[in-house]
Amino acid sequence: MKSNIILIGYMGCGKSTVGRKLAEKLQLSLLDTDVWIEEKEGTTISKIFAEKGENYFRDLETECLRELLKEQELEIDFMSNTDMCAGEKCLNKYGRYVISVGGGLPVREENRKLLRQLGRVIYLKARPDTIYERIKGDTTRPLLQTENPLQRIKEMMISREEKYQEASHEVINVDEKNISEIIEAITGREKV
Ligand code: S3P
Repeated sequence: MKSNIILIGYMGCGKSTVGRKLAEKLQLSLLDTDVWIEEKEGTTISKIFAEKGENYFRDLETECLRELLKEQELEIDFMSNTDMCAGEKCLNKYGRYVISVGGGLPVREENRKLLRQLGRVIYLKARPDTIYERIKGDTTRPLLQTENPLQRIKEMMISREEKYQEASHEVINVDEKNISEIIEAITGREKV
């Protein structure tokens, strides 16, 4: 059974766009942890940060991964215990996912372990200036609403780099690549 494909990386590295296109191409379900959280809470990430605080949001990220893993374990259980279950047919019940995760999710140790249990983790790595160009003017990311977002990006990237490396199985440098080239880099390495 092939595993999920999980995209991690700093805000603005392209996880959501790449995730959407990749899921389309491989005909997999798409799950974005930020969207999962917003739907569960019925509100936006900015409001969750403002009204309930960052810790509350981080707990929801862990909950999302735990739910996904539970679903995956149920699927394995189902496949090994049901006579009626004939291989690929069972996968239709739950399916493989492309999972795009919020930039800060891999910071928590438990999350890094959960990510690696869930599938093939790919770190989309970009330089701070690439990120800044993409997200300047964005108001939906509470952690970047500061006087000097570029400085903040640089600091956060330094403090997160080791964690991203530890969480991932593969790294793709995205600075000089367009979306199709990134998809190609991912699918080209997909084991058949
Ligand atoms: C965050 C990244 C955001 C979102 C939240 C916090 C972070 O997701 O989860 O604003 O800590 O890096 P994206 O990486 O999809 O922008």
